[in-house]
Amino acid sequence: MKKQLDELQEAFAKQVEKITDREELERLKTEFLGRKGKLKDLMQQMAGLADEERKLIGKRANEVKEAIEQSFSEIENRLSASEREGAMEREWIDVTQPVLGAVGKGSLHPVTQVQQDLEDLFSSMGFVIADGPELESDFYNFTALNIPPTHPARDMQDTFYIEGQTNVVMRTHTSPVQVRSMRKWGTPLRVVVPGRCFRNEATDVRHEHTFHQLEGLVVDKGISMADMKGVLETVAQHLYGKDTRVRLRPKFYPFVEPGVNGEVTCFLCKGEGCRLCKKTGWLEVFGAGMVHPNVLREGGIDPDVYSGFAFGFGLTRLVMLKYGIDDIRHLESGDLRFLKQF
Ligand code: PHE
Repeated sequence: MKKQLDELQEAFAKQVEKITDREELERLKTEFLGRKGKLKDLMQQMAGLADEERKLIGKRANEVKEAIEQSFSEIENRLSASEREGAMEREWIDVTQPVLGAVGKGSLHPVTQVQQDLEDLFSSMGFVIADGPELESDFYNFTALNIPPTHPARDMQDTFYIEGQTNVVMRTHTSPVQVRSMRKWGTPLRVVVPGRCFRNEATDVRHEHTFHQLEGLVVDKGISMADMKGVLETVAQHLYGKDTRVRLRPKFYPFVEPGVNGEVTCFLCKGEGCRLCKKTGWLEVFGAGMVHPNVLREGGIDPDVYSGFAFGFGLTRLVMLKYGIDDIRHLESGDLRFLKQF
């Protein structure tokens, strides 16, 4: 029987060399170690041996079994390793290869497009582009802008608040960056501030809790309303063409005096009156005015020496007019069917 065991081990050694895949491996496993396999067969024959001999042969049989098991597990490891390598080979991609065509290419949000266009225009006129916090202090959003805590103007700009914090608000306009800029840079000053604003609105096609404005501020010696109108006309003509006119009508904002409501001739009907301008010939697109002396003082600037003007464009409104968007809620929706059109 010892001889038979030796022969079995030899036969195994020969076969095992040929294994190249899992199928072969499984077949050999069954052939040698299976329930009806060669080793089982021999072991069954051992039952008829005398005690002494059975011990010896039994020991030898176990050695053979362990050796076979050991080779199987080595082969298994080898196969797994080469399978992994194969997978790496198959899944390999060249991450530096340029993407061809427009497959999966994104585009800029329409608000970003109009914002960047205006940033270019204002840069060309010597304005710096600034930024400010969206979670703003009550002071910069209201008080510093001549809107003290009990002022009724606060009612028109209800917003979102942070629980347990009485002195911060989600900014209701980009105007808080007026005083921030004056304190930071002093005079002379030419700055624009595009950014997100928030109000507690009952949302509908024309009202949204999140929208965009573009603030502007100019402070220097001898700045007048004529300068303001000149700048605003330049912007209007850049947006809607050379024949566009600007109309300024009195409007109250606590942080300017005098304050105006700014309109441009309707680009659709050229002032004739149509559905877009509600038959008036004019489109309301900004608020503006001469910076209130109290606001200059909050910015650390002497109103007896300096004067300035400020304006706030409804960036969201400009975008809606430009692209004929009929529902403001599309803009913050993140809906790709909408966004892919730009
Ligand atoms: N902040 C004003 C608003 O949100 C707009 C404005 C800006 C008016 C600057 C005058 C000057 O309605």
